[in-house]
Amino acid sequence: MENRYGTLASWVYHLDKPIGRSFGDIEFYRDRLAGCSGPVLEPAAGNGRVLIPLLEAGFDIRGFDASDEMVAHCRAECAKRGLSAPVDIQRFETFSYPERFEAIIVPAGSFQLVTEPEAALGVLRRFHEALCPGGRLLLDLDPLASLADTSRTTRHWRDGDSLLTLSEQRVETCFQRQTMLSHLRYEQWRDDVLVASELQLFHLRLWGVLEMELALKASGFKEIRVHGDYGADAGPGPEAVSFTFEAVAGA
Ligand SMILES: C[S@@+](CC[C@H](N)C(=O)[O-])C[C@H]1O[C@@H](n2cnc3c(N)ncnc32)[C@H](O)[C@@H]1O
Repeated sequence: MENRYGTLASWVYHLDKPIGRSFGDIEFYRDRLAGCSGPVLEPAAGNGRVLIPLLEAGFDIRGFDASDEMVAHCRAECAKRGLSAPVDIQRFETFSYPERFEAIIVPAGSFQLVTEPEAALGVLRRFHEALCPGGRLLLDLDPLASLADTSRTTRHWRDGDSLLTLSEQRVETCFQRQTMLSHLRYEQWRDDVLVASELQLFHLRLWGVLEMELALKASGFKEIRVHGDYGADAGPGPEAVSFTFEAVAGA
């Protein structure tokens, strides 16, 4: 299955991006949510990297994720801090809650994991339905230029007596559909012996800025703003490496 965060993928994510590891995004989301007293939802909350600091900052935030393993990390980190874990297993495409949210945040480009345009539009409509009228969606995207970056990388982490490696290789790029497929190969080594390996088929669809604005409007959003590199005031410059869309749910 594509974009599944299995045992090794989740372990590496948690080592590489532990709770509170910020790219400027955690402070940005916290500041944009200031004054928000109603419930906040983080779809694809993963290990709780962003969700737990926001919970600790006093926000009434809950999240969901498709991966049992990522949610297990999040629950364990909540338990360590004496917090109840407001996370459950759900998917972008089908999630539902009885309450409506004052804000929905989607950091780390997770929306790009929905690679079929029709499905992605369905997810935006679902976000709209899950928000109170006037509620806000904040959603991160990478620049389209990432499609052209096909560099191969290998990285490693140590955890106890385990060495974890991640080798990433682009295997398909489709400029027409704006999609890219990479093979992420995870390995766990102990005493020079391979203990486990896992292949993640990592599929992303990138969006143009104007294209996302149109998609948000078509899904019932208005008052759309685009922030570059987690700067609240300036719009994105030509060199921006991340875009955050902020949009208000129309009635
Ligand atoms: C890049 S991580 C982001 C985690 C967290 N939001 C953060 O900012 O660190 C992407 C997450 O999306 C989840 N995911 C992938 N496909 C999903 C889907 N269809 N529905 C819900 N979650 C999904 C993965 O399990 C993973 O935890």
